[in-house]
Amino acid sequence: MHKITLIPGDGIGPSIVDAAVKVIEATGVQVQWDSQSAGMAAVEKFGTPLPDATLDSIRANRICFKGPLTTPVGGGYRSVNVTLRQTFNLYANVRPAISFEGTDTAFSDVNLVTVRENTEGLYAGIEHFIKVDEEKIAAESIAVVTRKGSERIIRYAFDYARRARRKKVTLVHKANILKCTSGLFLEIGREIAKDYPDIEFDDRIVDACSMQMVMQPQSFDVLVTTNLFGDILSDLAAGLIGGLGLTAGANIGTDAALFEAVHGSAPDIADKGIANPTAMIMAGAMMLEHIGEPEAARRIERAVREVIKDGRSVTPDLAKDSPCSTAQMAEAIIERVRQA
Ligand code: NAI
Ligand code: MG
Repeated sequence: MHKITLIPGDGIGPSIVDAAVKVIEATGVQVQWDSQSAGMAAVEKFGTPLPDATLDSIRANRICFKGPLTTPVGGGYRSVNVTLRQTFNLYANVRPAISFEGTDTAFSDVNLVTVRENTEGLYAGIEHFIKVDEEKIAAESIAVVTRKGSERIIRYAFDYARRARRKKVTLVHKANILKCTSGLFLEIGREIAKDYPDIEFDDRIVDACSMQMVMQPQSFDVLVTTNLFGDILSDLAAGLIGGLGLTAGANIGTDAALFEAVHGSAPDIADKGIANPTAMIMAGAMMLEHIGEPEAARRIERAVREVIKDGRSVTPDLAKDSPCSTAQMAEAIIERVRQA
């Protein structure tokens, strides 16, 4: 029995999390869900977006399945996602981008994974304005790249490549200009690559890499990079395979692991029952893989891919005609998971 903290989230969150939970249960894997709240749902109930009970539950279970959270505007709340990352040291953000048959995209053979450093770099939070007589004359954000942080994310990428039977790790940087931060990251990458002779290693400068990802995404396998570059490139990769409704992400840390869709709470479609549940369901598959249920994970992935390819039971974002609801798409996936 796996104990997992479940956060339904805001907006479309509860509907897609409910769909994903049902799909996971259809595999027969035994899960005891510990339902907790965060985000706006928690503000309404407990007056804080991240109650202690939620943190305690993640601390105890070490695995969290989380729906998207609306970041309350104003009120001085810190982003719950950033707080979770820091509290549980979720240093690796892993986002696969693998083409789905049956979607309307420029390429049908994208198969890459972005491994983004999630805790330091330019997002370390060291920022300030320089003021003269209250006038902002300059602003500075300091990027922090540590040997420890770089080693652990680059090793994670290589170990991931080995586990997933992938062939190549590409380190993305801007070491020609950012000689210290990107330079150190690249230097450490080259050192670590020597420990993995079975995995090919190369590096790309981030701007050229972006162009190549758009023109020839097939040439990439695993990408590893610092926080800001990873944030941007993983969205680019998501766009290559059909966008937000399809892309899942894992946040892996020393103290816990958290699985979620890449998209947000989609307030514009929140009460319509038409959100695509795919990203959340694929996040569920990544979670099952992580907790040692790879066979169930494969079954879910196959079922999702078959339903999208078939095209008859998909939500409006994917359907050319006669779209269906979140629950109907989930039901079609559940049926195939059961048959498999
Ligand atoms: P969003 O990702 O919620 O929506 C962007 C667009 O994509 C909308 O048109 C939406 O309808 C569509 N979309 C998103 N997911 C979809 C799905 N599963 N099926 C079909 N269409 C889908 O981004 P937005 O509007 O910028 O943010 C809304 C809220 O979500 C904000 O409060 C933001 O802070 C939060 N957010 C939370 C995240 C998280 O918890 N990990 C990540 C991103 C945003
Ligand atoms: Mg982002």
